[in-house]
Amino acid sequence: MSDDSTSPTRLGTRAVHAGEARQQSPHGALTAPIEATATYAFDSTAELVAYFEGGSHRGEYGRYGNATVETAERKIAALDEAEACALFGSGMAAVTTTLLAILRHGQHVVMTSDCYRRTRQFVATTLGRFGVEATLVEPGDYAALEAAIQPDRTRLVVAESPTNPYLRVADLERLVHIKRQYRGLKLLVDSTFATPVNQRPLTLGVDLVVHSATKYLGGHNDLLAGAVTGSETLVSAVRDLRGVLGGVLDPHAAYLLIRGLKTLALRVERQNATALRLARWLEAHPRIERVYYPGLESHPDFTVARAQMTGFGGVVSFLVRDGDLDSVGRVLDRCRIARIAPSLGGVETLIEQPSYMSFYELLPEERLAIGIRDNLVRLAVGIEDPDDLEADLSLALAG
Ligand SMILES: Cc1ncc(COP(=O)(O)O)c(C=O)c1O
Repeated sequence: MSDDSTSPTRLGTRAVHAGEARQQSPHGALTAPIEATATYAFDSTAELVAYFEGGSHRGEYGRYGNATVETAERKIAALDEAEACALFGSGMAAVTTTLLAILRHGQHVVMTSDCYRRTRQFVATTLGRFGVEATLVEPGDYAALEAAIQPDRTRLVVAESPTNPYLRVADLERLVHIKRQYRGLKLLVDSTFATPVNQRPLTLGVDLVVHSATKYLGGHNDLLAGAVTGSETLVSAVRDLRGVLGGVLDPHAAYLLIRGLKTLALRVERQNATALRLARWLEAHPRIERVYYPGLESHPDFTVARAQMTGFGGVVSFLVRDGDLDSVGRVLDRCRIARIAPSLGGVETLIEQPSYMSFYELLPEERLAIGIRDNLVRLAVGIEDPDDLEADLSLALAG
């Protein structure tokens, strides 16, 4: 069977074809089959011995690999222009396994303070218990980031771009330039909000990329998955630890992911266009105090985003003028298309108040201290007709 993942094609074509065999089955099936098995049988002890001697590429046990999962991995690697990809049962399984594979007791991590909060929680609490120290720096403060690096101890810089909910965009070339000055220092970027359609950090010199594939890569709000991409050397260390920690992706979810990935370019291009249009419309709306979208000139990272990204993504955050927790809640309640839910990147438009959805347990003053105002709304656009989405928001804001 031939695999066309090495063909020199553009991203939209790779999304459809890369990683998949031209002939998926002896019967000529066009789509990749779901290899629904937990284990793999050997015809004889001799075959088992040949396998352990490295003579054959085949399955052994589901925790170490599965053909459907590997098809999805080849496709994501091709999209991210990576040598390798390892898939996990969730974005957090990808993040935590990767960090555990790279970091040792006594080492130090520098991280931007607006990374996904569960990632920060894992670094601060779990890794902290295992003797890994972390320093958080404000997004956009490259001098502070460099000052936080301890040349003999810092092993990893962790950044995210764009971030939630203010869509801050890290200058990846600048981060790569900084990390190259320190031997052995690696740079990991969570690129979930960008997707390979809008940004390919590995091509800029980033060492490892993680994605919550639950979001745009899956794209239909019907699966949980996580991906890490990078060099074969780094990814194989992560893959080996995955076999120990066990956070593998189920082959059925891998099939849904492959299916979702085929339309990734179409969906994200649509989401980019709709989000930019709604961001501009919201910015001109009298009931809106401020809009955060990296495709707007008013965004602090507009220049970096324009140079680094081919689209600005599908998430728009905004402040409702004079709004409080209750009145903004009522705006969301009036939406008839956008659904109130966490997550982003699927075909359905989702809307949420971070004060409720992510920080319900905090007091108002604690939320303010971390920069979350009660009139903040995050809109994650889907692929619905943009006229309908604008009308939906218009009615909700008018109410
Ligand atoms: C930027 C980012 N990274 C990682 C994750 C974790 O992914 P998952 O929910 O698939 O575990 C999320 C989830 O919201 C996220 O937004």
